[in-house]
Amino acid sequence: MADFVEIYEVGPRDGLQNEKRLISTADKLSLIGKLAVCGFRRIEATSFVSPKWVPQMADAADVMAGVPRRAGLSYAVLAPNLKGYEAARAAGADEVAVFASASEGFSRANLNASIAQTMDRLKPVAEAVLSDGLRLRGYVSVVTDCPFDGKVAPSQVAKVASDLLSLGCHEISLGETLGRGNPREIAAMLDAVLNEIPADRLAGHFHDTGGLAIRNIDVALEKGLRVFDASVGGLGGCPYAPGAAGNVATETVAHHLAAAGLDTGLDLERLKEAEIFAKTLRSKA
Ligand code: HMG
Ligand code: MG
Repeated sequence: MADFVEIYEVGPRDGLQNEKRLISTADKLSLIGKLAVCGFRRIEATSFVSPKWVPQMADAADVMAGVPRRAGLSYAVLAPNLKGYEAARAAGADEVAVFASASEGFSRANLNASIAQTMDRLKPVAEAVLSDGLRLRGYVSVVTDCPFDGKVAPSQVAKVASDLLSLGCHEISLGETLGRGNPREIAAMLDAVLNEIPADRLAGHFHDTGGLAIRNIDVALEKGLRVFDASVGGLGGCPYAPGAAGNVATETVAHHLAAAGLDTGLDLERLKEAEIFAKTLRSKA
C-alpha cells in the first residue's frame, strides 16, 4: 500500500480570510460542501478571531452551524484567545488551532502581543481545549522570513514549536507565511525543529508566493513529514503579512503526491469541482 500523506485543507479559512470582497456565508458553505465530499480528514473551516481584525471571518459561528457533518471528517478552526475558543466550542468545532509567530514583528502585527504574551494567552486556551476533549493544533508563522524582521533563525522556530508542543498540541504546523523560503532554508529550519520534535508531529504549511512550495514540500517529505496544509484553488494570503500570496494549491499538491506514488485518499475529480468553484470566489481585482 502506498504511503499515506494527509492534505489538511485550509482554503475556507486561510484562503478566504484575505479576500477583499466579503464572501457570503452561503458561498463559504458551498465551498465547504464541495470539499467535504473529496475525502479530506480535516478541513479548517473558519476562525474565531476578532472581527475588527479580520472582518471576513466574522460569520464563523454561522459557517460552523452550516457545515455538513460526515463520518471521518473533522472541522478545525482558529482561535487566538479564550473568547475565540469559547465561541468555537459552542459552534461545534472538532479541532482548535492556536497560532504563534517565530518573530516578534509578525507577532505584534498579527496578534497585537509579543511571543511571550501570546504563549501566556494560549495557556488557558490549551487547557480548556484539552479538558473539553478536543484536539489542539499549533501553528508557528514566519518560519523562514518575516515581513517586518527579515530572516528568522531556525533555532527561534524550534523554540516556539516546542513551546506549542508543551501546551499539548498534537501537531505543529510550520507556516512559511511569505512564500520566500527556499528549499535550503526550509531544510535548515526543519533540521532545527526535528532536533526537538519528531516528524510525525509536524505539518508543513507553505504559501506559494515565490513558486517554491512544491519543492519545499519535497524537502519536508524527505525529512519524514506526512501532513501538508493546502488551499483549494490556491486561494489566500495573510492579512497581516503584506505581499503573501495564497497557500500552495490543494490540487497541485494532490497531483504531485499522486505522481510520486503517495496516497492522499482524495477524489481528484471532486476536488476539481471544488477548485473550479473556489476560483469563482477570488477577487477579480
Ligand atoms: P486586540 O485588539 O489586542 O484584542 O487583538 P482585545 O482583547 O483588546 O479585543 C479587541 C476587540 O476584539 C474587543 O471588542 C474584543 O471583544 C474583540 P470591543 O470590546 O472593542 O468591541 N475580540 C474578539 N471578538 C471575537 N472573537 C475573538 C475576539 N478576541 C477579541 N476571539 C487579537 C488581539 C488576538 C484578538 C487580534 O489580534 C486577532 O484577532 N488576531 C487574529 C489575526 C488573524 O486572524 N490573522 C490571520 C490568521 S493567522 C495566519 O493566517 C497564519 C497561518 O495561516 C500560518 C502561516 O501562514 O503562517 C495560521
Ligand atoms: Mg497561512
